[in-house]
This record gives sequence, structure tokens and C-alpha cells, in this order.
Amino acid sequence: MSVGASSINTAHPSQDYANAIDRNVPSFTAAEAPDENSYFTNNLPPPELEEYSARTEEFVKHHFRHQRRIVLITSGGTTVPLENQTVRFIDNFSAGTRGATSAEYFLEAGYAVIFLHRQFSLLPYSRHYSHSTNCFLDFLSEAPPIDGYAKKSAVMARAEYSDTMLSVLRKYNHAKRENLLLLLPFTTINSYLFLLRALAMKMEPMGSKALFYLAAAVSDFFVPRERMSEHKIQSGDFNESQLVDPSASGVGKKLIIDLDPVPKFLKRLVESWAPKGMIVSFKLETDETILLKKCRLALKRYSHHLVIGNLLQTRKFQVVLVDSVDPVKQPRWLTVAQRDEHKEDEKSASNADEKNGVKFATKQDSEIEEQIVIEVVRRHGARIWDVVAATGSL
Ligand code: PMT
Repeated sequence: MSVGASSINTAHPSQDYANAIDRNVPSFTAAEAPDENSYFTNNLPPPELEEYSARTEEFVKHHFRHQRRIVLITSGGTTVPLENQTVRFIDNFSAGTRGATSAEYFLEAGYAVIFLHRQFSLLPYSRHYSHSTNCFLDFLSEAPPIDGYAKKSAVMARAEYSDTMLSVLRKYNHAKRENLLLLLPFTTINSYLFLLRALAMKMEPMGSKALFYLAAAVSDFFVPRERMSEHKIQSGDFNESQLVDPSASGVGKKLIIDLDPVPKFLKRLVESWAPKGMIVSFKLETDETILLKKCRLALKRYSHHLVIGNLLQTRKFQVVLVDSVDPVKQPRWLTVAQRDEHKEDEKSASNADEKNGVKFATKQDSEIEEQIVIEVVRRHGARIWDVVAATGSL
């Protein structure tokens, strides 16, 4: 269950957690065409759908002309609103690190990137500064007066950060100048699903040069539109809410939320929305004994090309790639050295600028996304060649 941190607390200390999920509900299966029709007919498209579709179409045309590969990266968590005029919502764990970091490496590898991301989650390039444990102002200092402009004040990057910042700035400017990065924010699971479908279809002209890198944390459960409360759910007036069973014991104290499974649309992406593209999904687990099994199950269920498994606890240092070609024989583990963060913090604290009392967070020397992207790009290249060899066209 990927329903994560909730903005409301529905748990009670004496709650029987084993019964929190109704196990009589049949296990998830891949969505088929009728499920797609039903979902997209019964739920409303987000207001930004047309605009994003038009911008994606333009972006695809531009890069098709330049014969570039395009990757659609999904990133960040999806929310499940409990009310139409949303005050409360359930959220899924994800800062957007995986997606934003990977986007930079894809750009370095020559891809154009459509970055479909949760609003206010991490973005490529600005991620180095925006969600840092430091305030971005800590990276800046007052510049000395410039000759001839004695009264003109200015700011500049602090000396110890300016080399890195300049390098990040140049890459960011290059991506902007060459129109290589299309940033499209979403918030809810519903927007995410509508947008994924529409954008995937707009990428159709790219054929096998289209890559889908699905790193967003997709909610498994949601409140269907017909059961959604219009206004803020009232804590003392539960009976008006269709979300709540008024006969349930303790009404007036508890909020009981009845969630439906989100249709598993990955199969529709593979079979119908982007049949020629290469599709890479992520699988998040917390129990290492089931990770590989779940990755293989996903491949079997959706027939896509690659599943990247990660554990919540070690996701920044280790992932496993499970391929559709031979999923049993070839899981490929990628690992980067894990620093002892406590010791590193002490070291960085001693290196900190004591005069200003500023302490800066430590960082890894290498990022696992660099290795992931190298592997994915290699496999994408091989797949494009296979498609060309088999069909004579991209
Ligand atoms: O952003 P960070 O903080 O860096 O964290 C990165 C991450 C851990 C979120 C990322 O690496 C990751 O694992 N993303 C996938 C999280 C997730 O949704 O895992 P899941 O196992 O609950 O579901 C994943 C799979 O379910 C999808 O890839 C897809 O196969 C399927 N699915 C899910 C929902 C849905 N509606 N349709 C689907 O097909």
C-alpha cells in the first residue's frame, strides 16, 4: 500500500492494524480497456490538461526535428483529496529526488526531458539549493563595491560554493536555451493519470525513441468522484458525508475512509498509450525479502521493459534492475558508497564557516541516479536498434 503520510490522523492507539485493510477485496489486477473508459469517463480531467497537451505536442515536434530522444519522467508523490474543495488529503511519500536528479543525467546524456512532477517537489538544477537544509540565502554573500559603482550594492555566491553553482547554472541555462526541459506540475492522483495518458499519446511520433521513466510515487487508493464530499468534512457533522458510514460505531469521533483501488494503468501505457516506447517503472518496498518478487510480478503483470526496485531505507544507495528479457537470471544491483552521515556531519561542522555560524549539509560524492541513467540509456539504445532491425523504422 503506497498510501503514505496522511494530513489527518485516523489511527487510534487501540486500532487493530491487521484489520485496517479489507483483505476480502480481490488483489489488484492490471487495468484493461473497459477500466480505462470507466475511469476517464467518471472522473473529471484537470483544468491544465489541454495546455499541457499542447505544450507537449510542440516540444515533441521540436525534438523530433532535431532527432533527439525524449524521456518523460514522472516524479514526486500524488495526493488523494478527501474533499472536492480540498482541505484534507492523503499523500504519498516522495521528495522528488529520484526524478529531479535523474532528469539532470538524462539531459547530460543528450535527451530532451518532459518532467511531470508533483508541484513544489524537487526540480532539476534548483534541487541543489531549493530544499537544502540551508536557506538559499546561506549560499550568498554581499559583494564588495564595484569600482565606479561605490554606492551600488550587489550579491554574489559565496566563494566556497561559486564553482559548483556556476557549473549548475551553466547546465541549467543550456537546458533552457535549447528548450530541453519541459516542466509540468501536477498535484492529485487524478491529474497525474489524466496527464500521463495524454502526454504519452502526444509522444507517439517519437516511436521507440520515447522513454518513460516512472519514478513518481503513485497512490494505490483513492476516493472516487461520486463519493467525494464537496466541502470540508465536518468533525461534528459526519452524517452529511458520503465518505462516512453514519451507522458506524463511534461516529462523531472517528473518520472512516473508504478508498477504492486506483486502476493499474501501466498495462494500458504499454499496450495502448505508448506501444512503441520503452517503459521503465519503479517499485518501492520496505521489506527486502519481497522486493525482487514484486519487481518480477510487475514485469509479468504489465509486460513492460524494466523495473527498478528500491527499498525505502536504502533507496539513495542501492537499486536493483529487473529486465523483461530475462527477469529471473539477470537482476542487476547498482550501489554507491554510503557515507556515515553522522561522522560526515561532524567533519562538515568542523569545516563550517564559524565566523558566520553557518553549517552546511554534507553530500554524497556520487549519486545513484547517475548509474541508473547510464544503464537505462544503454538499454534504451539497444532497444531502438532492435526495433529498427525488426521493423526497418524507429
Ligand atoms: O522522490 P524520492 O524521495 O527520491 O523517492 C523516490 C521513490 C522511492 C518514490 C521512487 O524511487 C519510487 O520507487 N517510485 C515508485 C513508488 C511507487 O509508487 O511504488 P509502488 O510499488 O507503490 O507502485 C509502483 C508501481 O505500481 C508502478 O510503477 C506501477 O507498476 C504500478 N502502478 C501503481 C499505481 C497505478 N495507478 N498504476 C500502476 O500501474
